[in-house]
This record gives sequence, structure tokens and C-alpha cells, in this order.
Amino acid sequence: MSFLEEIQKRRTFGIISHPDAGKTTLTEKLLLFGGAIQEAGAVKNNKIKKGATSDFMEIERQRGISVATSVLAFIYKDKKINILDTPGHKDFAEDTFRTLTAVDSVIVVIDVAKGVEPQTEKLVEVCRMRKIPMIVFINKLDREGKDAFDLLDEVEQKLGLRVTPMSFPIGMGYDFKGIYNIWEKKLNIFSGDNKTTISEGVEFNDVNNPELDTIIGEPAAETLREELELVYEVYPEFDQEEYVKGDLQPVFFGSALNNFGVKELLDCFIDIAPNPQPKQAEERVVDSKEEKLTGFVFKIHANMDPKHRDRLAFVKIVSGTFKRNTPYLHVRNGKKVKFSSPNAFFAEKKEIVEESFPGDIVGLHDTGNFKIGDTLTEGEKLNFKGIPSFSPEHFRYVNNADPMKAKQLYKGLDQLMDEGVAQLFTMEMNGRRIIGTVGALQYEVIQYRLEHEYGAKCSYENINVHKACWVQPEDEKNEEFKEFKRVKQRYLAKDKEGQLVFLADSAFTIQMTQSKYPTVKLHFTSEFE
Ligand code: G4P
Repeated sequence: MSFLEEIQKRRTFGIISHPDAGKTTLTEKLLLFGGAIQEAGAVKNNKIKKGATSDFMEIERQRGISVATSVLAFIYKDKKINILDTPGHKDFAEDTFRTLTAVDSVIVVIDVAKGVEPQTEKLVEVCRMRKIPMIVFINKLDREGKDAFDLLDEVEQKLGLRVTPMSFPIGMGYDFKGIYNIWEKKLNIFSGDNKTTISEGVEFNDVNNPELDTIIGEPAAETLREELELVYEVYPEFDQEEYVKGDLQPVFFGSALNNFGVKELLDCFIDIAPNPQPKQAEERVVDSKEEKLTGFVFKIHANMDPKHRDRLAFVKIVSGTFKRNTPYLHVRNGKKVKFSSPNAFFAEKKEIVEESFPGDIVGLHDTGNFKIGDTLTEGEKLNFKGIPSFSPEHFRYVNNADPMKAKQLYKGLDQLMDEGVAQLFTMEMNGRRIIGTVGALQYEVIQYRLEHEYGAKCSYENINVHKACWVQPEDEKNEEFKEFKRVKQRYLAKDKEGQLVFLADSAFTIQMTQSKYPTVKLHFTSEFE
């Protein structure tokens, strides 16, 4: 197979949802279609159960699962599908944001009864800003839920999307009869007690055909005709180009648990979803068809065995062919590195591969040389954009609780921050360290891992910080910036990259500071123009 064919056959995507909408169930059904797993229940849910905050074993269990399900790959109709797992728990939202830098498209799962939930809103906003092509799957149609048109409205309004239904439900909950596949002009009838077989569907080019009344009954057929008329009238026609540009989002209805509407989703997905896309680096745009290898690290996972402190760096291949035992440039540290056992991921296992292509993810064993955002090339000095740090939500001073183990503590902190577990800020004034996280859960994870993996102990101390603002002066030498630095000295810190950060104690402070020092721009993310 030629290099171009390899690219064209790849579909790399993520599934995002609010917890419980059915992401795990849908993933599992997709894997079943690909023949990658044989039975339901094989994909482990990496949800953190409620109340598990202080249960370290639960955290460890979840870490174990999340390495196993980080990338799930399978072949379906000659297409190589790579699903990148995204944690649903809000405390791990930053992990999800980073994973979204490595996908070429996403599927958004929404619960028909609950509609658009907060976590969906947050994640979709990121996808929308980055113009990632999205398909929406409205799940649990076997249950009573909201009216289909109301839901489409909600998706448009709350998520800011422009939708076009590709299928439409016939009834709902107890009366759910099936769906009409607008994309393929097929009727799929639901058989509630037959939960594992795949319904093939009846071709139905014209819903005015009286046979429809015989199959689903006259009232349901009439309603469907009326609803479809409204669909054609109100919603734009599907347009491939608009979808790929992130300007139009196709919507499917179904029930993942009952395997309903999933095949339709997958069949359409492999037809329309984009293959590996060009990616913007600081220096230039890199096209997937370029023959030289480029790739970037979007995730680092510590090895589960605390005795060997090696880690697995997940690299998304952007262009070229990644080859085993071939030296590549690690752009940040300027060194050539080669890998004797790069891992590729299949359903739930990983194996050593000789070659990987754009769209693929390779897992590289690492002893601490990589951090998130690092780029690999064949020699060109490139830095891929789009893996910014976001302002954390929680901030605490971190203290060394065992003076004999200071070295271990700092090494541990350093490596955990490289993995992206949390962010470390060092106060300009006194060198004290502050850990910033998205959720409170991370503080326990850090404490636990420092102790078990590095033999170090830490304690935390509260600090009143509302947001971390990355500081961008118009001119480093102007008086205004000098005054800003003098007046705000007690609130200034450096992030791990050495960028200046203002730790503001309230939204009001940010507003006041911004109006007092208009030439000193404050940003909530570490990457800005
Ligand atoms: P998540 O990964 O998005 O968090 O959701 P997950 O797939 O774990 O699904 C959450 C719950 O919703 C599960 O039930 C699952 O069985 C159920 N579910 C998923 N799809 C459908 C569907 O199409 N119809 C119905 N009725 N339910 C669905 P649970 O009781 O929380 O978990 P479990 O004990 O069944 O695993």
C-alpha cells in the first residue's frame, strides 16, 4: 500500500461527552463492529466513581485502565480507525483538551433525556474554537427523552453548532420504533429484545411509499413524513466541505446500549470524517502528505510499575513514516533519539511496530526526556502549536514534608508536571512553589504518587488565587511594565517554561490591573499570538 493510501485510510478521532451519556458503551459497540473485541463489557470504564476522591486504589485502578484504553484501534471496511480516549471526569479536563489536539475529528455523545450537559458544553467549545469537525450522536433513544426538534435546538443554542440531522427517530422510549436514515435513505426498525445483532435496515427511498404505513403503522408513518418535511425545510443539507471545516455538524440518533443507529453512524463516519489533517506549527503548516516524519507528544503516562520509572510518551504522527530504530530529532533538546520498541495500539493491547503513518499514535518508552508538546522531526526545527496550558482552577502551596527527601520531591514534582498532571508555579519573590490544578482530586493523586513512586512526602497550604494570568507586555522596557512588576511583585510567578504569570486573587483584580496597565496583556492560556 502506498504512503498516500495509508493516509487516506486513517480516521483518528475522540469521543467526548458528559459522564454517563454513553461514551464507553458507544466505544465498545464501535469496537464490536470492527471485530476488535468479541463481547460486550470488554472496554473498561475509566470513570472515577463518586466518593472515590480519597480512595487511592481507585485512582490507581483508573490510571491502569486509562493506559489500556488510551488509544483503541481497529480496522473497519478497510479503514484504520484510531479512537483516542478522553477522560470524562471534570478534574481531568485538561487531559482531554490535550488529547483533542491529536484528533482529526470528534463524536459528541448526548443523552436524549438530559440534553446538553456542562461537560459537553466545555469540551465542544474547545472543539469549536479549534474548528474540529464534529458529529453529534444523541443516545438512549430507547428511553423517554426530549423531543427531537427541541434537542436539535438545544444543541444549536447551547453548543453554538449548526446542525443537520442525518437520521431521525421514529417515536421514543416505549414507543421507539426505529430510525429513518436520511443519509442512506433507509429505514431501521428497532427490535428491543434483540440487543446484539445488527439490524440491516430496509431501503426506503421515498417515505411516501404506503409500505411505510404497513411497517411502522399509520400514525407513526404520518408523523415521520411530517417531521422529515420539517427537517428538509429547516436544516441545511449536509455538505462535506462545511463539516470538515467545522461549520456544520451532522446529527445521528440511536441507542448505543441496544446497538441501534451505531452502524449507521460508523458507516457514515468512515465516509465523511477527515483523514489526517495538516497541522499548524509555529514555523509553518505541516501537511500529512509530506514524506518526512513529524509528530508531537500529547500525553505522557507513567509506568504502572513504580520500580521502573519509565514512562510512555504518546506521539501523534503528523507527517511521514515513523520507523523503528531510526534516529529522529527531539527538537526541544536538540538531540537525536531512536526507539527500539515503539508501541502501536490495537483494541486493548499494544505491540511493537516497525512503521506508523500519519494519524497513528505511537507509544515511546521514555525515561524522562519528553514532556507534553515536544516535537520529533527528521532534522527540521519545528514546534507544533495548540497545546497551551490553561489557567488552573485550584492553587495550593506545596511544602516538603520530609526534609531528608528534598531531591526526590523536586524530581517527582518535575516529572509529574511534565506528564501534565498539574502545573507548577514558582513565586518570583521567595521561590515558593505553587501547584495549580483543574480539580481538587489531583492534589491527592500527586501526594500519593510522590510517596509511592518517588519516596517523597509533601503537604499543602492554602493560597488565595483566583486565576493564573500569563503576562504579555507590549514592551518589556517601558515604564508601565516596570511599574506593574514592582507593584504586583508579591503576585508574580514563573511557570515551568519560565513564562511570567500573574496570580490574581479575584476577577475584580484582573479587571483593575488590566485597566491600570493597558499595555500589559493578561491571558488565561499560556499560548497567545
Ligand atoms: P460514559 O462512558 O459516557 O460515562 O457512559 P457509559 O457508557 O458508562 O454509560 C452510562 C450508563 O448509561 C450505563 O449504565 C450504560 O449502560 C447506560 N447506557 C448507555 N447507552 C445507553 C442506551 O442507549 N440506552 C440506555 N437505556 N442506557 C444506556 P449504568 O447503569 O451506569 O452502568 P452499567 O452498570 O450498565 O455499566
